[in-house]
Amino acid sequence: MKDHTGKEERKQNMKRLLKPDRMLLAIAVLALALTLIIAGCQAAPGPQGAAGPAGPAGPTGPAGPAGAQGPAGPAGPAGPAGPAGPAGQTGGASLTITQTAALAYATLISNTLPLPTQGEQRRGCPACHVLIDKQTGKYTLAYEAHAAAAARGGKHPDVAPDGTSITATSDVNVTVCLECHAPGTGAREGMGKLAPLMLRDIVHPAHMGSQTFKLHYGGQCFSCHDIDGQGNWKILTQKVDTNDKGVPNPNKLPIPGMIDAP
Ligand code: HEC
Ligand code: HEC
Ligand code: HEC
Repeated sequence: MKDHTGKEERKQNMKRLLKPDRMLLAIAVLALALTLIIAGCQAAPGPQGAAGPAGPAGPTGPAGPAGAQGPAGPAGPAGPAGPAGPAGQTGGASLTITQTAALAYATLISNTLPLPTQGEQRRGCPACHVLIDKQTGKYTLAYEAHAAAAARGGKHPDVAPDGTSITATSDVNVTVCLECHAPGTGAREGMGKLAPLMLRDIVHPAHMGSQTFKLHYGGQCFSCHDIDGQGNWKILTQKVDTNDKGVPNPNKLPIPGMIDAP
């Protein structure tokens, strides 16, 4: 029974398939498929061609705004050497402007204030205060007294207590001056014994503050003093015989004219 049924079924199917309208349909589908296949087999498109040549440049645009100024450029190379100067004096190197100016200034100073010649030592008041002009009395101690008193609008005495003349042209020793200018005592403490001032209050600042005394004469404390074994400041009233260092002559001791300060 079962087999019979299957045979019948296949027969039925064949009949259905072989129906003419169905055959036509199948042929049309086949033809369409063939057409599509043939079309699909046609060659693929070739690669893209190369780009054509560039066109001509467009017209130049308007100028842009000016930029900020750039930094300064590097220094240029050194210029060529100047012409040779005039020949210097034989044997000596020529001086620069600065050296010449310094030399001119040094000459000016030494002409105004001559420096002491080397080895020259002056000790004792008369080593410097000597009479060089009999008319004026320059530069005796008495001349200095009259000049200084006049400069203050005063008039210096002409006679010392012991009768010695102390006019400007009188060449006297400092001991005469101390008759009136030695330190006073009692009511005259801090003043001169008879004169207004003690001589130390006159000569210390007048000499130690003087460029002429210090530079021209090489002056200092030992120009007027010597210090003894007890530490006393002795006064050199006469010109001292010394060597080029200012050391007193050992054959003339004690130093002539050396006295105690009053
Ligand atoms: C080395 C040289 C030298 C010696 C030493 C010297 N004097 Fe002078 N004295 C001078 C010179 C320089 C002046 C002038 C100073 C000035 O005006 O710049 C002077 C000025 C003076 C004056 C004037 C002061 C014034 O007020 O104007 C008196 C006073 C004087 N001397 C006293 C003495 C006595 C006192 C001694 C010794 C104890 C002495 N001198 C030793 C160089 C010297
Ligand atoms: C008789 C006393 C006497 C004797 C000595 C004497 N003097 Fe005087 N001296 C005076 C009197 C006083 C004055 C004040 C004068 C005046 O100002 O008018 C004076 C003033 C001076 C002055 C001025 C000081 C100042 O700046 O005001 C000097 C410097 C001086 N005497 C130096 C000397 C010297 C250096 C000697 C020795 C040569 C000397 N005197 C001797 C009395 C004396
Ligand atoms: C121009 C000469 C002179 C010079 C420079 C000088 N003196 Fe004097 N000195 C004297 C005289 C003169 C006296 C005494 C005057 C008096 O009695 O008022 C004296 C007094 C003194 C005294 C007092 C001594 C005593 O026993 O009373 C001393 C300390 C002294 N001098 C120190 C110095 C020193 C430190 C210097 C240097 C910085 C110096 N003197 C420079 C002239 C000088």
